[in-house]
Amino acid sequence: MIRTVFKGSGSALPRRVVTNAELAKTVDTSDDWIRERTGITQRYLAADDETTATLATQAARAALENAGLTIADIDLIVLATATPDSTFPATATKVQHALGGSGFPAFDVAAVCSGFLYALGTADSMIRTGMATNALVIGAETFSRILDWEDRATCVLFGDGAGAFVVGAQDVAEDGGPGILATQLHADGEFADLLYVDGGPSTTGTVGHVRMKGREVFRHAVTNLAQVLRDVLAKAGYAPGDIDWVVPHQANLRILDATARKLGLSMDKVVVTVDQHANTSAASVPLAFDTAWRDGRIAKGDLVMLEAMGGGFTWGASLLRV
Ligand code: UT7
Repeated sequence: MIRTVFKGSGSALPRRVVTNAELAKTVDTSDDWIRERTGITQRYLAADDETTATLATQAARAALENAGLTIADIDLIVLATATPDSTFPATATKVQHALGGSGFPAFDVAAVCSGFLYALGTADSMIRTGMATNALVIGAETFSRILDWEDRATCVLFGDGAGAFVVGAQDVAEDGGPGILATQLHADGEFADLLYVDGGPSTTGTVGHVRMKGREVFRHAVTNLAQVLRDVLAKAGYAPGDIDWVVPHQANLRILDATARKLGLSMDKVVVTVDQHANTSAASVPLAFDTAWRDGRIAKGDLVMLEAMGGGFTWGASLLRV
């Protein structure tokens, strides 16, 4: 059977690191509060010459190199972002051009923090139905551009960055073998007002700023993530104990901890980068994956659960045999 297999990953971060202490000079907050409530110690923030497209291009180049492929081998780019360079064209087309590609489909998906799971699910479907052979799947964000830097409840939580996977079609045995084994995606627009941006091209004609009722989002995140993880495991015929690594969306260390506890998983199996990167929205899952892939924690043959939850609400999970 044709399955979508992982071929390589890459990531990119802006040059500038901003610590909690540095933020506390301009915002009414403290290093202690941010660490205790979120686990974040620092974040990377984009300079004027660093955009979602430049970070995405850098991550995509690293992923191609890691996969041992070039842009000539790619016939699809799906890019997840809530902070595109422009309202249109899609940031994916900018990345395609910057990499020297042309002709093949390249488009953005908008599912905020779950965006990478949506993008990977889309690429997986297109690969398994024969519409693409090798895809670049990218999560890239510059959330710093849509933060209200006077709202301490949100501006301390986010950072900028990008992560990318190269995935491709491979004929594998029905049972065993590498590839994406199961994916589940969800959305529920009823909860749009708990996490949203108060602007947009068709409403205010502005970009707007991030608004969030953090405590309520937290509660929904733990419940929804634990459920979707169980569902994806059941769909693929595995149990929590079979997972080698969970690569979660990096929103808050306490959410990672509470979700792992609900599933009876040790935190030793959870990849944590929220301390270094903060919440990079759609970039966070591939950024965290790439960190653990390059430092050797995630290895070929490992069973890896990717999961995320974000504005919409949207949420999802994907089980991958690397
Ligand atoms: O990526 C999409 C998904 N997003 C998430 O999953 C985020 C989910 N939510 C969270 O991570 C947490 O709810 C937060 C980190 C946002 C907040 O933590 P919390 O423990 O839920 O705190 P809280 O919002 O209930 O606020 C507690 C107190 C408040 O003061 P009072 O009303 O108790 O006096 C806030 O005003 O902390 C205050 N506060 C701050 N204090 C210092 C809020 N932000 C800050 C801050 N520095 N930056």
